[in-house]
Amino acid sequence: MIILKSSLEIERMKVPCQIVSETLAMLRGQIKPGVTTLALDRCAEKFALKSKSVPAFKGYSGYPFSLCCSLNDQVVHGFPNEKELRDGDILSIDFGVVYDGFYGDAAITVPVGTVSVNAAKLIKVTEESLYKGIEKALPNNNLSDISASVQAHAEGSGFSVVREFVGHGIGRSLHESPQVPNFGKPGRGVKLKPGMVLAIEPMINEKGSHVRILSDGWTAVTLDGGLSAHFEHTVAITKNGPEILTSI
Ligand code: MF3
Ligand code: CO
Repeated sequence: MIILKSSLEIERMKVPCQIVSETLAMLRGQIKPGVTTLALDRCAEKFALKSKSVPAFKGYSGYPFSLCCSLNDQVVHGFPNEKELRDGDILSIDFGVVYDGFYGDAAITVPVGTVSVNAAKLIKVTEESLYKGIEKALPNNNLSDISASVQAHAEGSGFSVVREFVGHGIGRSLHESPQVPNFGKPGRGVKLKPGMVLAIEPMINEKGSHVRILSDGWTAVTLDGGLSAHFEHTVAITKNGPEILTSI
């Protein structure tokens, strides 16, 4: 069942969503060679708590950190650790909080120092793919119009779309119905309606689309060792079109 949100509820969701986007903006400014992802995790947690919100991922199905830090060939759900970031790395950071009963969720991928031409292109195309999807988050479109639009841009740019992880409805729970895949034929799935709030989150790979999970039970990495990027926004569908709740 898809839970529609009133305009008042969408206004309330802007608070956690803004805390998430401010946290990511703050972290982006700290990402450079020599910094550890565990330091970023502590910073994110501190910022969320100072904003009177609670980090949403820590303890979710047993996830042990506040921030997901996925480096290079890591696709999603990577653990923060004590290793220093190096020039040329790419780092995906994914963060969520809950405030006054509502969740916000967003992710960005950030270059560390100077990255290869292909790494920079992967980051750019993944962010563009997210916006291509958001453009289709309109009343009377079908859910898979979002998916198809993401896929067309990513594959049209020579990259591949991860199938195992998808976006999701979001509201009083972090993960609500419907699932939002980043691939598929247009014109399928539910009709989009004002009041739906979706976390749209393409994960795009440099080479093949296949992933495997490391022995920590969480970290997804590309099967072929190619790079992966991830961008996510929490988006409300309104009668006037998509409203990005996690925009800066
Ligand atoms: N944005 C990711 C998702 O929606 C992050 C979840 S991390 C978890 O799946 F720990 F909460 F699972
Ligand atoms: Co999400």
